[in-house]
Amino acid sequence: MSKTIRVCVTGAAGQIDYSLLFRIASGEMFGTEQKVALNLLEITPALDALKGVAMELDDCAFPLLEEIVMTDDVNVAMKDVNWALLVGSKPRGPGMERGDLIKENGPIFTSTGKAINDHAADDVRVVVVGNPCNTNCLIAMHNAPDIPRDRFHAMTRLDENRAKSQLAEKAGVAVTEVKNMVIWGNHSATQVPDYKNATIAGKPATDVIGDLAYLQSEFISTVAKRGAAIIAARGKSSAASAANGLIDHVKSLLTPTPQGEVFSSCVCSDGNPYGIPEGLIFSFPCRSNGDGTYEIVPGFELDQHLTDGVAKTVAELESEREVIKNLLG
Ligand code: NAI
Repeated sequence: MSKTIRVCVTGAAGQIDYSLLFRIASGEMFGTEQKVALNLLEITPALDALKGVAMELDDCAFPLLEEIVMTDDVNVAMKDVNWALLVGSKPRGPGMERGDLIKENGPIFTSTGKAINDHAADDVRVVVVGNPCNTNCLIAMHNAPDIPRDRFHAMTRLDENRAKSQLAEKAGVAVTEVKNMVIWGNHSATQVPDYKNATIAGKPATDVIGDLAYLQSEFISTVAKRGAAIIAARGKSSAASAANGLIDHVKSLLTPTPQGEVFSSCVCSDGNPYGIPEGLIFSFPCRSNGDGTYEIVPGFELDQHLTDGVAKTVAELESEREVIKNLLG
């Protein structure tokens, strides 16, 4: 059995992590032969609730779970971690604008970035889930200057999975038949689910569905507004599906991507082959060799509708960056 993987999970008493931690400890994220240690970070008032989560983890007697560290100190939480899964952040309150949320959460990711820089293991990889995840990731990356930029991700995997599921349902096929479902841009309402390059049973999704108007309007808006639809139905935001997206995201980095396939991840746009401005955390089609590294896959062509969407999501990310530029060091 290989060396224990130490994983920091932030916001560990929150609802996403209540679905996530047990699946990490059972081996779903890193494999059923791989021991894990969990460094769980919470804010001080949530430490009692976190103890309850840890008691439940104990009560599962997971053979792979070697240690649980609970703390409200981000420097302790990041000590020697190989993976930092940054889920914790403040939720959007009533009447709060997106800009307010960005300003509220930005400082969390400044101290988190610094702690990763100073205390994490040399091979650390970071995935940000806490919203606004692209911009939070940008802040963390800038505050961790010693960590290579290609170690930082924000999550659009839930959006990709949502889009795959919508296409499969529309085409009346199993979800496994849908491939190359790329999400471009920001994990927000401006995201661009790419119907043009998606395939269904090996054929272009546009041919199989045969209804471009649906793909350009209802499909895109259903995927982009799915989070709000779940809040409306459940009274709480998506949690189990977000945890599942994060598991899929990490597994995609640790599994060689099948030839001709891609997955979506928000990564640093520096040097990207699509002409997206540099210095953003932007969702691209990616592939991995299975060792945690990735490359942005070139050659995906967009139609005018998608190109217009990409311009909007770029503009949104640039405006978010403007709001927190004082946190970028
Ligand atoms: P939640 O409110 O249930 O849990 C968040 C937890 O973070 C709370 O326990 C809170 O105490 C903790 N927290 C707050 N500040 C912290 C800090 N400085 N350090 C450590 N922990 C801190 O929220 P939930 O439902 O678990 O969602 C977490 C985040 O994930 C939210 O920002 C949400 O918008 C985002 N999200 C992202 C998705 C994506 O696809 N990227 C999908 C769904 C949710």
